Amino acid sequence: MSITPVPRVAVIVVAAGSGTRLGAGPKAFVGLDEHTILRHALTRVFQTAPAQVVIVAPSGREGDALTDALEAAGDRRDLVSVVTGGASRQSSVAAGIAALWADIDHVLVHDAARCLTPAAVFDRVIAALELGHAGAVPVLPVVDTIKRVQDDLIVGVVDRSELAAAQTPQGFRRDILETAYRSATAEFTDDAALVADAGHVVLAVDGDPRAFKVTTPADLDRARSLVATEPVAAVPSSLHPAPAVPRVGIGTDVHAVGGDGALWLAGLEWPGEPALSGHSDGDAVAHAIVDALLAAAGLGDIGTHFGTDRPEFAGAHADAFLARTHALLGEAGFRIGNVSVQVQARRPRFAMRRAEAEAVLSRALGGAPVSVSATTTDGLGFTGRGDGVAAFAVALVLPA
Ligand code: CTP
Ligand code: MG
Repeated sequence: MSITPVPRVAVIVVAAGSGTRLGAGPKAFVGLDEHTILRHALTRVFQTAPAQVVIVAPSGREGDALTDALEAAGDRRDLVSVVTGGASRQSSVAAGIAALWADIDHVLVHDAARCLTPAAVFDRVIAALELGHAGAVPVLPVVDTIKRVQDDLIVGVVDRSELAAAQTPQGFRRDILETAYRSATAEFTDDAALVADAGHVVLAVDGDPRAFKVTTPADLDRARSLVATEPVAAVPSSLHPAPAVPRVGIGTDVHAVGGDGALWLAGLEWPGEPALSGHSDGDAVAHAIVDALLAAAGLGDIGTHFGTDRPEFAGAHADAFLARTHALLGEAGFRIGNVSVQVQARRPRFAMRRAEAEAVLSRALGGAPVSVSATTTDGLGFTGRGDGVAAFAVALVLPA
């Protein structure tokens, strides 16, 4: 694994709010899909150039925040820290500032609640700071006509061409942000206001509609539907850089006896044996191998690539799953070293067809060696009773 140079940029992700307006508990830990708002925010943070990442968590939820952060960080785990937030957003940012490393020159402050902010927005803010600006804030033009209202009466129109809606991440020179926070005497709604109040000029850069803040239940619905229609990009790119060392992975699968038709197991059809139930043909051996290979390559698991939303795999046999897995590994820069898989089943008897199974599985994986072993469990457990079969696989992958 490569050694990451000490970064000069830090991102403080404030996630310590209580989410009162959303009303679903601490907002950062509300799920958008199988991942939380915080995890989504961090996935995008880690798609930018390596930076120190300080997550400001609600008191008592620091461990949950760290779990999300380590999952999102991939091979940048050393850059992550978690601190406890305060009662206001401003005090939470201050807690993040206190955790900055000595080498940091530029600081971006980001709301976890703006969880779908694309990495490109971070890049634009960082570029402005590197050009020498004291601060940079992403903004969107205001599209609505804005009125000044007093006691339910419209008392004037505001020229919207002068207005812009501020988003995050907002970036600043570290010394300016630190000094402004130290001397702030009032509460400000964002960091740009606090820094401007300290007398500094802040640059506006292009924001992005996806950087909206999840505040109300309607915002949450919008974020959830955006995530549901996103292409599968959930695996951070940093999880599969060109690998330098061999990697191993483990996979297991279990299927119950009870499907229709013939038994398919280890890529073979077994006439006269009771079928297994499950999406596709229930071939637990093939599925365990797929999970082991994907795990070894850091590419997620079988559900990531062959979920029930992929109808083309519904009736598929081992060769289709394994060939697709082999291709996925190739695209990520891996070749397969070998695979070892063990079946626990009362039936079928593997001894006579072991070599045949190994040949079929190996061929589907581009010729990589596959060893198949089988055991009964002495009549114990569900495999011993013949209620189902279990398979356990280990895979080794290497740089392509
Ligand atoms: N925040 C924080 N510490 C606080 C308050 C807010 O870290 N004491 C963070 C939130 O977690 C959020 C961002 O600041 O990522 C913007 O705040 P907001 O959208 O207002 O979130 P909440 O304060 O959690 O929501 P609400 O105001 O509805 O309670
Ligand atoms: Mg708030």
